[in-house]
Amino acid sequence: MIKLREYEKRDASANLKYANNPEVGRYLFETFPSPYTMDDSIWWTSVGHKELAGIHNAIDLDGECIGSIGATPGEMEDRFTWEIGYWLGQPHWGKGYGTEALRQMTEYLFQNTEAKRLFAPVLAPNKASMKILEKCGFVLEGVHVCAVFRESEGGFLDEHLFARIQV
Ligand SMILES: CC(C)(COP(=O)(O)OP(=O)(O)OC[C@H]1O[C@@H](n2cnc3c(N)ncnc32)[C@H](O)[C@@H]1OP(=O)(O)O)[C@@H](O)C(=O)NCCC(=O)NCCS
Repeated sequence: MIKLREYEKRDASANLKYANNPEVGRYLFETFPSPYTMDDSIWWTSVGHKELAGIHNAIDLDGECIGSIGATPGEMEDRFTWEIGYWLGQPHWGKGYGTEALRQMTEYLFQNTEAKRLFAPVLAPNKASMKILEKCGFVLEGVHVCAVFRESEGGFLDEHLFARIQV
């Protein structure tokens, strides 16, 4: 089974292997590089994940980094609201690892940080992501119609906002 852990220097090559795939980045923010280079991977696994506020972990399967999951808190009066994001290498999709990683991160955040509200924006075609959110107790709060322009997907996409609250 997978576990969440800190990144290590040795993760750069596995992270590159899985991240450099347009299918992985397809519904992520466009800040996710494509193509994803070794420089991107070295930066993310050694520096980048620490520069972001919040908690950003490797998803580990038998010692290999097969993906990433993290959460970033809002600022000031939004500080109890954390945005969660995740991806897995494509060969590992459909085996329950995404659900398990999200379940572990959700529990960790509610138990160990001041997060009271977790949320994830999901592009309409990304049914697998919506499914794992629902399985981890997140609820669809609303649909932001035509909120995102993604030329590679043919234009405007709806964004589904999922959240889980624990106050
Ligand atoms: C989203 C992602 C993390 C899911 O990880 P995963 O390990 O494949 O997820 P799981 O195996 O735990 O569960 C996937 C669920 O979605 C379902 N699913 C997959 N594709 C589906 C589709 N097209 N329509 C409906 N359900 C679908 C699966 O049947 C499964 O549900 P089940 O367990 O009830 O059968 C993975 O697909 C991924 O990394 N995608 C690219 C990055 C990404 O989009 N991240 C999220 C951005 S919001």
